[in-house]
Parts: sequence; structure tokens; C-alpha cells
Amino acid sequence: MEGREYRSIWYEPAVDQVRIIDQARLPHHFEIRTLATLTEACEAIRAMRVRGAPLIGVTAAFGVYLALRENPAALGEAVSQLQATRPTAVNLRWALDRTARALAREPSDSIAARALQFAIEMADADSACCEAIGEHGSLLLERLWRGKTNQGHPLQVLTHCNAGALATVGWGTALAVIFKVAKKGMPLHVWVDETRPRNQGAALTCWELRRAGIEHSLIVDSAAGHVLSRGMVDVCITGSDRVSAAGDVCNKIGTYPLALAARDNQVPFYAALPVSTIDFDWPSMESPIPIEERGAGEVSMASGIGADGGEIAIRQYPESSPIRNFAFDVTPARLVSGIVTEHGVIDANGESLAELAGG
Ligand code: MRU
Repeated sequence: MEGREYRSIWYEPAVDQVRIIDQARLPHHFEIRTLATLTEACEAIRAMRVRGAPLIGVTAAFGVYLALRENPAALGEAVSQLQATRPTAVNLRWALDRTARALAREPSDSIAARALQFAIEMADADSACCEAIGEHGSLLLERLWRGKTNQGHPLQVLTHCNAGALATVGWGTALAVIFKVAKKGMPLHVWVDETRPRNQGAALTCWELRRAGIEHSLIVDSAAGHVLSRGMVDVCITGSDRVSAAGDVCNKIGTYPLALAARDNQVPFYAALPVSTIDFDWPSMESPIPIEERGAGEVSMASGIGADGGEIAIRQYPESSPIRNFAFDVTPARLVSGIVTEHGVIDANGESLAELAGG
């Protein structure tokens, strides 16, 4: 943007400030926001100014720093407040557990500085990890494209929600694969599911693809089955918020019906994610995990900009009918063709995942 490369979260050492791209303002406004306190970090996660499993984790690590900067004795309180912000993405717990372990024996005069260093390292590691996911996934997509009978046509990829640079510190997971494929010069077209009700596909994925100059088309979620059934998709690839030890993939609501339609049409369905998204304490989807339910207003209201460029919010439906706004679903491992990680592409089953457990 404006000749500068941004990450979705970063630290400005000259002014001792943690900054984010405010994703609740995209795509109409590109705004940078400073997180000055633990309360502001929690609010940013809850209000989805930062969102996407890996980014939520890294923001929590910076949130711990902000808390300790004010009060070096606040580690326990910071961890429990941050943990309560969103329930489904396991990267939040992963990041907080690691941060708490790293700081457990740190003296109070150095704990804030150590927390900051730890958060910065976690952010750098996330970006490197996502780039590796992109690299491994691009080899997979390259193979699919070479196997296409008509290589003159672009590889048709369908994605759901936003698993892009905005959902991580940089690169993304599913979109990292797409960015790498595009960089290699392979012809590519991306179908972007709108992703009701928060519209992360329409608002964020399209924004990222537009900026990267990648050909794409936005479709409503319920059109995914149609394009799959007409042979207009070669591969589906999404991110994930939590993967079970058996390979079941929890992701944004609507992923499960997408995977079903993909299987029915013999189109491979992949999930791309860092190992930090695998919850080795979640044996399989037979044991339920917390699925976030968000406010009814996200379904009943719509907001955007009006003809005069001003922001407007409109009520689409009365809330007189009860609304359930489930934010995630779980796709069984049997519908997942493979999992793209920073270590390579693996099968979605307990054996393959167990090999990553020690990593
Ligand atoms: O509710 P969100 O926007 O945080 O949900 C995000 C997703 O479901 C992403 O697909 C997932 O976190 C993977 S992001 C690399």
C-alpha cells in the first residue's frame, strides 16, 4: 500500500507501539490502528479487527506484552482475558500456552521486554511458516495443472473465507499457495465464496487477490455446488481454525457443504494450515469442540457504503425470527484430500498427523 509492504500486525520500535490493519474497515477503508492496552488487544480480536486463526494467536502474544508493559504481574490475568476472546481457533491457546511457558520464570524487571521479543519472534516465524505452506502447496497445484488435459486453460481454484495474508502475519495459508502459484506464472483463476455473514471472501480475499493482480470471480456461497458440478473447479483449498488428531478440519461455516460438493464431483479438497492449527488434544470430530456463535446482527444487518460514498447499515430482516449464527463447521477427514503444512502435504489421517506431533 502506498509503496510500503505491510504485515497484518507489527511492532514500531521507535514509538513502542503495536499496530494492526483494521480488518473490520476493509475493503472500503484501509486503516491502521494502534493497540495500546490488553483491553484493546482483546477488543480487536473479539470485534474481528484482526481475525484468522494464526493472526489471532500472534495478536494474543502481543496482547500479553501490552498487559505486562503496564503491570509486570499481570501474566495470568492477561492469558485468561485473551483466551476468552474467541473460542474456536486453537492457535489462540497454542500461542498463549507457549508465551506463558516462555515467561514463567522471567523476573518482573525483564518480563515485558521478553514478552515483546517472544511476540516478535512468533510473528516472524508465522510469516516464514506460511511462506513454506505456500511453497509446498504450489508444487501440488502445479502437478494438478500439468495433469489437466487442456493446459492452455487456467487452473481453477475455489476458496472459502479469507485464509490470506490478512488472516496470518503475512502470506496466508490457502492464499499463500495461490500467491506462489501466481508468482510461478501458472495461469490461474480463483472462485471466491462470499462467506456469509461476515463476507470475509468478498471483503478480504477479493481485496487481496485484486491487489496481487490475480484473476478471480466472487460467487455467493450457495453457487459453489453449481460451479463444481459444471466442471469449473479443479481444486478447492481453504484454511482451518483447528484440525483434529484424526484429520477432521474445522473451518469457517460453509466449508463442510463445500467439501461434500467437491467429493460428489471428484474435485480434490485441501486444507492449508500451520502445525500450530492441529489440536493434538482433540482426538476426532466425535468429541465436540466449542463452535463460536456470533451475534444475530451479523445476519440481520448489512453494512457498506452508499451511492454517495458514505457508510450505511441497513436492516435486512427483522430479528423477530430467532437467528443462530454459527461461525464454524467441521469437515470429516474422509472428505479431505490432504493437508498442506509448512513441512509438506500429508494425508488427513491420524498416522500422518502423529508424525508431526513432535515437531
Ligand atoms: O472468523 P474468522 O474470520 O476468524 O475465520 C477465519 C477462518 O475461518 C479461516 O479460514 C481460518 O482461520 C484459516 S486462516 C489462515
